[in-house]
This record gives sequence, structure tokens and C-alpha cells, in this order.
Amino acid sequence: MQKRKIIVTSALPYANGDIHIGHLVEYLQTDFWVRFQKMRGNECIYVCADDTHGTPIMISAAKKGVPPEDFIAESYKRHVEDFSAFDVKFDNFYSTNSPENKAFCEQIYVRLRENGALREERVPQLFCPNDKMFLPDRFVRGKCPKCGAEDQYGDSCEKCGSTYNPSDLVDGHCAICGEKKLETRESSHIFFELRLFKEYLREWLSGHVARDISNKLLEWFGDNAELMPWDISRDAPYFGFEIPDHPGKYFYVWLDAPVGYMASFKNFCSKHGLDFESWWNGDAEIYHFIGKDIVRFHCLFWPAMLHASGFRGPTQVFVHGFLTVNGTKMSKSRGTFISASTYRECLDPQFLRYYYACKINNTTDDVDLNLDDFAQRVNSDLIGKITNLASRGAQMINKRLGGILGTTDEEGRKILDEFRRKSDCIASLYEERKFSQIPVEICRMADTANEYFDSRQPWATVKTDPELTRITLTNVLNMFRILAVYLAPILPGYASKTAALFNEAAYTWDSVNETLENKPIGAYEYLASRIEKDKIDLMVEKSKQKTPQPEQPKSDIPEQKPEIDIGDFGKTDMRVGLIRSAELVDGSDKLLCLSVDFGPLGTRKIFSGIRKSYPQPEAIVGKKVIAVVNLKPRKMRFGTSEGMLICSGTETSGFSLISPLSNSAAPGDPIS
Ligand code: 2FM
Ligand code: ZN
Repeated sequence: MQKRKIIVTSALPYANGDIHIGHLVEYLQTDFWVRFQKMRGNECIYVCADDTHGTPIMISAAKKGVPPEDFIAESYKRHVEDFSAFDVKFDNFYSTNSPENKAFCEQIYVRLRENGALREERVPQLFCPNDKMFLPDRFVRGKCPKCGAEDQYGDSCEKCGSTYNPSDLVDGHCAICGEKKLETRESSHIFFELRLFKEYLREWLSGHVARDISNKLLEWFGDNAELMPWDISRDAPYFGFEIPDHPGKYFYVWLDAPVGYMASFKNFCSKHGLDFESWWNGDAEIYHFIGKDIVRFHCLFWPAMLHASGFRGPTQVFVHGFLTVNGTKMSKSRGTFISASTYRECLDPQFLRYYYACKINNTTDDVDLNLDDFAQRVNSDLIGKITNLASRGAQMINKRLGGILGTTDEEGRKILDEFRRKSDCIASLYEERKFSQIPVEICRMADTANEYFDSRQPWATVKTDPELTRITLTNVLNMFRILAVYLAPILPGYASKTAALFNEAAYTWDSVNETLENKPIGAYEYLASRIEKDKIDLMVEKSKQKTPQPEQPKSDIPEQKPEIDIGDFGKTDMRVGLIRSAELVDGSDKLLCLSVDFGPLGTRKIFSGIRKSYPQPEAIVGKKVIAVVNLKPRKMRFGTSEGMLICSGTETSGFSLISPLSNSAAPGDPIS
């Protein structure tokens, strides 16, 4: 079969923030697709880069007191670490602040100008006399002119949704320094005449992006609202590339960002002796993976700009939805705005790869990471069904049968052939990015393999008929191996450990056709172990802590209490308790009613004023806490409280239950 030449990109991450699990929805699905293409033997090059220019990055660097170049170099390091921890394997991860990108931007600009696609116009803009700079819309803040909502951006109101000009804001001020006396100054800007490419875009859209996206964009063509001239210039000071023949004017970051795809690919070509022209402008397919928030840039401006400057357009733009966690937007206060680094401090990255594969398909629907479902799918499917085949099979063969595979038998071969017949179907699912159906297919096969394993009872036959058992386990391990090959684009680390177990080279898609017989296997190294719920809780807790907490009013923080002696302190009997149940108390907006197990001291009912901090009490069931157990029982309107839970915090800041750090703390253990 003819090998394809494929260039793939993911959206370039901004250099002013860390990678988070929302970004990973895109990088992981792109990586699945690229790895699949490579396993098929296609020449597939995956490029990306940091998106380094623009006002926010310039300001973040200034706040840190470092040059923007140093600032973006730091981000680059962190991004590379995150990507490599999650096995996102770019062939080139570059930077938009590169000589190749500058050269392409200039070349495209000159061609656009020569082709009559640009126009200059003087535009009024707010200027901060203190910072001595023109303020982009998002750097002017004030009251919404329509609804009066405080502290809104200069382009639109987050409360009422109206859009306006920055100068319309009431009490508009500079978001950088707070200056209230902003000036309006005129400056000349360069605009890309998008409307000139209306017909080209109409045609391009019909073949290069999913129907729902093109329909939506085409709807807007009617009134030309989406085809307004696009301002591609910004005034100094600006961190970016200066526009040739326009000293003091810079390319807007959104012009140089997609050009960064070309620049990163060009850089790859130079490093690996590839001919840029024959790929980018020749017979290679070009695919961009993006989120639905940046469709306008990739499906209007970018193809029009490429076309207008004599470059070919992308083959397809693959658009995906956003990430939600537990059904809602990622939230810093709920601890679900989880950075890649916090995730990996707590959990194995391959679990997220597996779970995202279970959830992602080729539509723009949002992808929900439900944390309970996440643990459940990994534990019951990846570990319980799939990995168990390898761990039971390989460990038994190593411990009881000298670590040598035997032959398969007819029954085994029948199942193996059935698994192999799935190859085309699974390949199409990868090709069409219907990733979520792949684990379903694989789990079905794993069920068949487990049924086979159980029906042959190797744990019993190993005592009576070792050679028959060897055949059983050879069948099972070959079945498992096929599943690992099918999973390899999603779980590359897992697949390479599997290859190592069987003393094999890295898998290709055709590896499913081989059968391993009469050969030794290696030592069994754990492929993956179960997700512990505590680790998920820890990740959420850590993510909450990363959020700067609003300052508390001083009056709510108590003064230090008078000194006591150790004897006073010793009278308090504090113990570890395990929350068995926790419920809201009808008629009280402060209390929860908990049943807490103190081991040898029995289970006690405790009323605690923590409802506001734990509005969903089921979330704390199963947690270990610290409580005072020798307080006189206290009669309350709702019942008698037989203890008091220890918390940090105050009524205003919210309470946080104190929990022993170590898992070995047992209910009833004293606190000393
Ligand atoms: O939305 C973003 O995060 C941008 N940094 C994506 C840029 S993609 C491309 F155009 F470079
Ligand atoms: Zn200012």
C-alpha cells in the first residue's frame, strides 16, 4: 500500500500558562492519531510550538522582572516536561519566537500586500499615558455601559453579554496600572481584507471541515459579519515581530501563531534533511487539531491568508469540544482546574490517556471527565479486565512453568483469529477519530479472553497437567498481546512494556498477525495498578490550594488564646474517626449530622457546623478525621452530639476537616 505523507499539528499552547487537563484533550487525541499513523507505516510528522507573542506575555514577563525571552524559555521547559510525562510525542516542539517564523510572517505579509489583500486605516484607540502604550481591548476595564456590571473587559460584558468599544466603559481604566485618565489616540493599522476571499472560503469550507462547523460559518457569510477586515497589526511596545516597512508596528499574535505551524515544520525539515516545499506545498496531507473556540482563526483567516499568499490550505481542520469535569466547567474553587503537573504528582498519566480515549470522538461535543467514572473505568476495565490477563498469565508461566511459552491450540487460535479480524475495524476507528469506540471493542475481546481463561482453570490444571496449562497460558498471553498492540497508540508505555515482556521490538499495526510460541518471556513488570480514590481527592485538594484565596477580613481570625499548661491540654481526648455517613440536617443551614466510627470506642453521632464547607456531605463519607471524644454530650434542637470534629479555618473562610496524613491511622487511634 502507498505510504502517506502527513503533517499534523495541535494548537500552539500560550507561553503564559501551564498545560492543564483541558489542553490535554487535544494533545492526547492528536497523539493517539499520530501514533496510529506511524504504526501503520505512514510518514507522519507531528509539529507544535509555544505561542509566545502578545501583550499578556509581555506584561507577565515585566511583572516578573525578566525579559520576555527568558519568560518564554521557562514556560518552554515546563511545557516540554508536561508533554513528555503524558507521552505526547511531537516530532518537533518549537517556538513562534523563531527565525523561521519571522521569515514566513514577512514572506506572507509581502505577498498579501502585493496581492492587494491589505489595507491601512487610522483607528482611534485608548492609550495609557502612564504605561505609554496603546491598550488592547482586554486591558481596559470598567463598568459595563449597558448593565452597569463592575470590572468588565473593554470588548464585552461577561454579565449581560453585550459588546462595545473600550471607550464606552464607564470609569474605564488601564488594567495594568489602574490609570483612570486614558487618552484616545489615533494610530494607523493594517487590515487583512477577508471579504475578498469569500468565494474561496465558501468552497474551501465545504470540503475541509466537519459539516456542522462549515454550516455555522457559512451562515454568517450572508451578512458578511464574519468577513470584516481583520486587524493584523499592533503598536509598540509589543512582544512579537516588527512589520517590514512599518517601524513601531508589530504582527498581531494571531497572525504569527498559525504561521508557527509552518515554522516548526520547516525547522524539522532542516534538522532531518526533508524538503519543505515538496511536503508543505506538495503532496503531504496537512491536518490541524483545534478546539471549537478558535475555529474562526483556523477556518477563515488562516486558509484565506495561505491562499492569498500562494500557499496551499490544510487538508482538514479537526475540531473538538471543551473539557468539563464532573459535568461542569473546570473550576479553580472546586479544585477541578487541574494542571498537568498536579495531575502527574498524584496519578499515572496513562490513566488519563485511557480515559480520554474512552470519551473522545470525532464530534465537537464537550468531553466530560467524571472523576468517579474515571476511577471505575480504569480499575474495572484497564486493570480488572485487560491487565489482569497479562499479570495472571505471565506470573503463572514465570513462577510455575519456567517462563517459557508453549504452543497455541485450536480453541486458542480460533479466538486469536477472531481478534485479528477486528484489525480493520479498529484501524478505521482510529483513522476516523472515533476513539471512544476503541476501548469498547478491546474490552469485549478482553471479556472473551477472561472467559476462556476461567473456563480452562489454569490455576487448577497447573498442579495436574502443566503442559496443558502452558498451552492455555500461551493462548491467553497471545490474546493479551493483540489487545496491547491495538491499544498502543493510546497507551504507548504500556505497549512497550508488553513488547519488553515478550522480548520484542516496538509494535507496528501488523504485529497482531504474529503468534508467539515456544519462546521464553521476560520478567513481569507491573503494567499499571489500580487508581486509589485518595489520590484523586489529593489532586483535587492540591488544585484548590493552587488557587489564590481571597483575603479574609481580619476580624474573623481569632486572637491567640491565653496560655495553658500541658495538663490542661492533656485532658482533651482526641481520636481518629472514620466518617460512616454524613447528612444534611433539615431545618439547619449550618449543620451536618455525621456518624463517626471510633473503632473500639464505638460509632458516635456528631453534629458539626460545617455544612457550608461541605454542601455535598456524601463527598466526605469514608474520610478519616480527628475528633474530640470526651466532650460532654451536647443536646441540640436536632439531637445529641457526642463529639466534636476538628477543623481548620473560620466561619468566613470556610472549614476544612483535619485528616491524618498516613493511611495507617486507624479509627480510635489516639492523637498525641
Ligand atoms: O488558543 C490558544 O491557546 C492559542 N495559543 C492557539 C494558537 S493555535 C495556532 F494558531 F497557532
Ligand atoms: Zn496603565
